[in-house]
Parts: sequence; C-alpha cells; structure tokens
Amino acid sequence: MRLLILILLSAISAYSHAAPTERQLRLLSVNCLQCHASAHTGAPVMGNPEAWQPILAQGKQQIMTHVVEGLRGMPPLGYCSACSEADLVTLSEALAGQALPEATP
Ligand code: HEC
Repeated sequence: MRLLILILLSAISAYSHAAPTERQLRLLSVNCLQCHASAHTGAPVMGNPEAWQPILAQGKQQIMTHVVEGLRGMPPLGYCSACSEADLVTLSEALAGQALPEATP
C-alpha cells in the first residue's frame, strides 16, 4: 500500500494542481481507482486528458453534483463514505490531473 501511494504521489505531482494528502491518496486507491484506472469500466481514466476535457468543460459545480449524487456508472460519492466533500474535490482533481475550473458562462 505504501509503495502504491508513493507511486501515485509522484505521478500526481508531475502534472496536477491538487495536492492530496497521504490519507486522501489511500482513499483514492481504495475507492476510485478500481474504476478510474481502467477504461473498460466506462470511467474516465486517471491521467488521460482527452477523457477529462469534456468533463472539465461542465465546470466544478456540475461535476461535483455528479460525484455526490452519482451519474450512470459513477456511484454516489464514488463509494467513498469516508470522504468529505473537500476530499471528493481533491480526489476528482487528482483523477482529472488539474484543478476543476468554474463553469464558463
Ligand atoms: C464503480 C465504478 C466507479 C467508482 C468506484 C468511482 N467512479 Fe467516478 N466514474 C465512474 C464512471 C463509469 C464515470 C462516468 C459516468 C458517465 O458519464 O457515464 C465516472 C465519472 C466520474 C467523474 C466525472 C463526473 C462528470 O461530471 O462527468 C468524476 C469527477 C469522478 N467519477 C470521480 C470519482 C471519485 C473521486 C471517485 C472515488 C471517490 C470515483 N469517481 C469512484 C465510475 C466510478
């Protein structure tokens, strides 16, 4: 687990604005990566900018509504009952590889 977290940390710090704590990285690997690490689940894959571009265009508020309430194959809270809303923002930014932008009017 520790090695996985270190690998995740270095992968994320290479391109992300989000700075997840070690606890958040554990939540990410336990709750989000089971789907967001492989495209066949239908989830946008972590570190794939093409998959995340149309999602980011929706803006932070819409994205977080989808994360909290669920959206098709995305379960409510991403199955992470231990995640606070702030955790979910940071984890989503880690998956997207950048900060979630406010919606453009
Ligand atoms: C059971 C599989 C699964 C798990 C677990 C999961 N996701 Fe997802 N997630 C998906 C799928 C599938 C989609 C694409 C939904 C769609 O657009 O049809 C998605 C979409 C998203 C999106 C984009 C939402 C949007 O507005 O389009 C975000 C952000 C996200 N997930 C974050 C997370 C986070 C953070 C976690 C962990 C706390 C997580 N997911 C856990 C399957 C999962």
